[in-house]
Amino acid sequence: MDRHVPAWPQEGNSRVPYRMFSDPDVYRAELDRVFLGPTWQFLVLADELPAPGDYKTTFLGETPVIVTRGADGRVHAMVNRCAHRGNLVCLKHQGHAEALTCVYHSWSYDLDGNLKSVAFRRGIGGKGGMPDSFRLEDHGLRKLRTDDFAGLVFGTLSPDAPPLADYIGNLIGARIGRVLHGKPKILGTTSQILHNNWKLYVENVKDTYHATLLHTFFTTFRVSRLTAGGGVLIAEGGGNHASYTRGKHDTVGREGSDKLYADIQSMRDGLRLADPRLLDSVEEFGDDVTVQILSVFPNFVLQQINNSIALRLVLPKGPAETELQWIYLGFADDDAAMTERRLLQSNLVGPAGYVSMEDGAVGGFVQRAIVGSENECSILEMGGHEHASQETRTTEASIRGFWQAYRPLMGL
Ligand code: FES
Ligand SMILES: [Fe+2]
Repeated sequence: MDRHVPAWPQEGNSRVPYRMFSDPDVYRAELDRVFLGPTWQFLVLADELPAPGDYKTTFLGETPVIVTRGADGRVHAMVNRCAHRGNLVCLKHQGHAEALTCVYHSWSYDLDGNLKSVAFRRGIGGKGGMPDSFRLEDHGLRKLRTDDFAGLVFGTLSPDAPPLADYIGNLIGARIGRVLHGKPKILGTTSQILHNNWKLYVENVKDTYHATLLHTFFTTFRVSRLTAGGGVLIAEGGGNHASYTRGKHDTVGREGSDKLYADIQSMRDGLRLADPRLLDSVEEFGDDVTVQILSVFPNFVLQQINNSIALRLVLPKGPAETELQWIYLGFADDDAAMTERRLLQSNLVGPAGYVSMEDGAVGGFVQRAIVGSENECSILEMGGHEHASQETRTTEASIRGFWQAYRPLMGL
């Protein structure tokens, strides 16, 4: 890390200096070391690109990327930057094309990113044009490694990232497979800008402690409470996690739970849903887990809240700005009632969701509060100091796991 950034606190992952969320040098370094480093990042669902020529654009950190279904039927990904003078080659978010042609001077690439033609390459009437030494094959788009896990396509620019299946690991891989049990069908997408550093959102995703305290809806309507059974699974290395709730069984009984939450501001006693269909759930996974929130380091999230399934991608847009993208999923064999149920329950999440709206706000509140206190630290001691799996959600173990994975990449 940059030499004028002070050493990490002695307490290790139980303390995080606030400058990690605001320092432009930290941000600049992590675009390189985390997002262009040996990590795998979610690019697309394989099903988003069904036919050769389909493409979608996304990012590795802030580096723009094009993902295509090639003529060979395989998914390819390239940096979205023309080899000529650096223009964006693909300007649309999504589309279909036979070739990728840059608008600036019409250099044209195939769907795998190989340069196929250069306008006026031979000049005109023997004058101008490229020298004979110029070879098309030396100037393609920069290619990413891509790999697929359960229909999720990930990419990396680093030769040092381990194979994707090893990177995800069996513990978390099984929890992805559990949710993505069929051919996915996209029900919708949203995108929102968060006025906070990307890591504040990733911490929030891994923060099982806040969910039933910040989110009054969860507690009031008993979707999730800390008194229900559950825990966190944390992969070796710390970066990947899955938290789970067994919402139907309260470990201290219904009244015991009410008593514990009675003095906590998230409880709104006496409220009833005007339309109870919102929470009308069916057992889909055969294991009693009503909520599972999962992350793959650094910025991918897979959510199951009852029957609401969504992917989230956390894209950094500056030290204090983040784009959060959501893809809401069902499966090809869902019947109409199941699709309706998933859509209704998706009101829980997204930019204005009954439980997600607060997550969109609270990171911005932190960002505003840490100004001028860059050398002070947050405290992450719930559940101890380790970052191992625990059979409780009254813990910050998976957030400590994030820092465990992040710090070595950053040399911190
Ligand atoms: S910058 Fe793309 S063709 Fe010139
Ligand atoms: Fe939350």
